Amino acid sequence: MKKKILVTGGAGYIGSHTVIALCEAGFEPIIADNYSNSEPWILDQLTKITKKKIKNYTVDCTDKDGLKKVFKEEQIYGVIHFAAYKAVGESVENPLKYYQNNIGSLNCVIELMNEYGVENLVFSSSCTVYGEADYLPVDEKHPIKKAESPYGYSKQVCETLISDCLNSNQLTRAITLRYFNPVGAHTSGLIGELPIGTPNNLVPFITQTAAGIRKYLTVFGNDYKTDDGTCIRDYIHVMDLANAHVKALNTMSETGKSITLNVGTGKGSSVLEAVQSFEKVNQLKLNYRIGPKRSGDIEQIYAATELAEKTLKWRTEYSIDDAMKDAWRWEKNLANK
Ligand code: WQD
Repeated sequence: MKKKILVTGGAGYIGSHTVIALCEAGFEPIIADNYSNSEPWILDQLTKITKKKIKNYTVDCTDKDGLKKVFKEEQIYGVIHFAAYKAVGESVENPLKYYQNNIGSLNCVIELMNEYGVENLVFSSSCTVYGEADYLPVDEKHPIKKAESPYGYSKQVCETLISDCLNSNQLTRAITLRYFNPVGAHTSGLIGELPIGTPNNLVPFITQTAAGIRKYLTVFGNDYKTDDGTCIRDYIHVMDLANAHVKALNTMSETGKSITLNVGTGKGSSVLEAVQSFEKVNQLKLNYRIGPKRSGDIEQIYAATELAEKTLKWRTEYSIDDAMKDAWRWEKNLANK
């Protein structure tokens, strides 16, 4: 009998890639999604890739009665909780929406795990909890600074919620993964990032510019104290990130331990280096111009990966070049959809 994993937000960007990794690892993923930031047709794409019909429930994870149905009907072994809003700028304009959904949905999930004796949780957190780094690469001991946005603060609150529930035995075990910058798409080109409206994030803006959807990319500032003056981030291929979630489930069942881990490549890349990577691997010229800094952006951050590599027996296999190639393939397929 395959272990059933509830994947909340499983039709979303990272969720859908993780569903593939779970199938490949012999788990049975069950998707719960309200499609507020994803599309139902992604489920068909997942079937094309996995050759399986992925069981799914249309449900808002803040709706306890609705979500209870899943726990009642399915013998859940573990939960991977992705369902959350993640747009930094939007969270500043509408903090209530972020606190209600991001914290409320986790609260609901843990309550139901408690009621139904589900012991394993993998939680989707973010490097944004660190704020501007005091040292680089950032390791898991780096201080948690005052969040730069309600989105970042909601992730900090969720991490505290998990540790409090572990201490009170209202949660058996959890692995919290602090993502750096997820990029790229499944090599099939059948799934990928699906931003609603104008993309906030760099890579979908790059691919939409290359596709002619956007006139040009604005590079937000080139007078930072970095080699080429542009911000540095740790861009991790979404399939590497997906595999880390599977490893986290296996680690919990082998060790029974809870832990918080950085999930990045350990390598920093500047915005211009990301653009150059995209141009090189896809053999095209990108139309970009330098613009003013974006408020709230930190100058640079990239991960210390030793703890995750040792704990999960996991390491990244894809490069930023792979991510840029895969992102472009997905964008071209979207255009022909
Ligand atoms: C990356 C770099 C921009 C767009 C946020 C969240 C993080 C995670 C990923 C959820 C920055 C520059 C961007 C553009 C640009 N969220 N940029 N022109 O802000 O590092 O992280 O998204 O998982 O938690 O904090 O990602 O892709 O927006 O920006 O120059 O049009 O690209 O200034 O330096 P960010 P991003």
